[in-house]
Amino acid sequence: MTRVFSGIKPTGHVTLGNYLGAMRHWAEVDQHRADSLFCIVDLHALTVDHDPARVRRLSRQAATLLLATGLDPEVCTVFLQSHVDEHTRLSYLLECVASDGEMRRMIQYKEKSARERERGGSMRLSLLTYPALMAADILAYGTDEVPVGDDQTQHVELTRDLAVRFNQRYGHTFTVPRAARPGVAARVMNLQDPTSKMGKSDDSGPGIVYLLDEPDVVRKKIMRAVTDSGRDVEYDRETSPGVTNLLEILAACTGGDPRALAGAYESYGALKEDTAEAVVEVLGTVQARHRELCADPTQVEGVLRQGAEKARAMARPTVDAAYRAIGLLPPV
Ligand code: TYM
Repeated sequence: MTRVFSGIKPTGHVTLGNYLGAMRHWAEVDQHRADSLFCIVDLHALTVDHDPARVRRLSRQAATLLLATGLDPEVCTVFLQSHVDEHTRLSYLLECVASDGEMRRMIQYKEKSARERERGGSMRLSLLTYPALMAADILAYGTDEVPVGDDQTQHVELTRDLAVRFNQRYGHTFTVPRAARPGVAARVMNLQDPTSKMGKSDDSGPGIVYLLDEPDVVRKKIMRAVTDSGRDVEYDRETSPGVTNLLEILAACTGGDPRALAGAYESYGALKEDTAEAVVEVLGTVQARHRELCADPTQVEGVLRQGAEKARAMARPTVDAAYRAIGLLPPV
């Protein structure tokens, strides 16, 4: 059976981008067709300045939201990265296989380190080695497919390179995974700046729809989205980035095709209204389940405990094999 692994980082409130680009597919498709693991990658949240209490809160919230989207712990594994030591054990080995040059070439590293420098802070070493930990997350489980939005494909490519290199040098140990990106909404853009990604760590509130936004807040944000200077509703990322973003969001929420939808609208206003209602409806379902789960936090804790146990048992044989292959003696 195909093995699927993916993760979400608790660095901010979960956004519509996270949902449409990744989480929705995990719940609707992946968990039913593959042996899947979904991980709240809390160690990755420590690679930038953070408030410990906030990381804890966001980790719990991300876990609750994953279940609220419909992940079923009976058919998939949901867990916290820091609960399974195999991730950091393997990450170190992969740092011994990777070069600093390939880490420095990562777009997310370049962007985030520039931002940290602008703020006058120092860059954490873990931000540079981030992709080795991400590769460990994936490779520890013999993963075949990694369903992610567009922004993570470079990290998955590096993971593939590291797997191939390790296998060539030390003997076949890892499955070489591939990224799986969604057909629509692989890159949901900021509503106020449709040339940049809707990112959860950004500060631009009005341009970001959060999964837990109230319906009226969602409507307001979408109705105020920046559109383009033309008048026609066109699907074209270059010339109509704002409208194209709304078409992608609407298509993802309704199961339509963004190009075909473009032909169905004569005004930006009507497109915005329908997009807002479609998003409100999709989020309403998730929010209702989220409220139920919040009423009984022990349920989420139980899922995470059981998930970590299952994940540990799955990861250990591969990570132990990597330790032996690279030249380390087993414990006596
Ligand atoms: P993170 O937490 O930034 O995002 C989680 C998932 O959401 C997708 N995503 C988007 N998709 C479409 N439009 C957007 N605006 C948008 N914003 C985010 C991301 O592509 C991702 O799929 N490095 C990863 C976390 C990670 C991981 C892993 C993922 C760590 N280890 C192993 C897969 C496998 C990250 O920061 O995702």
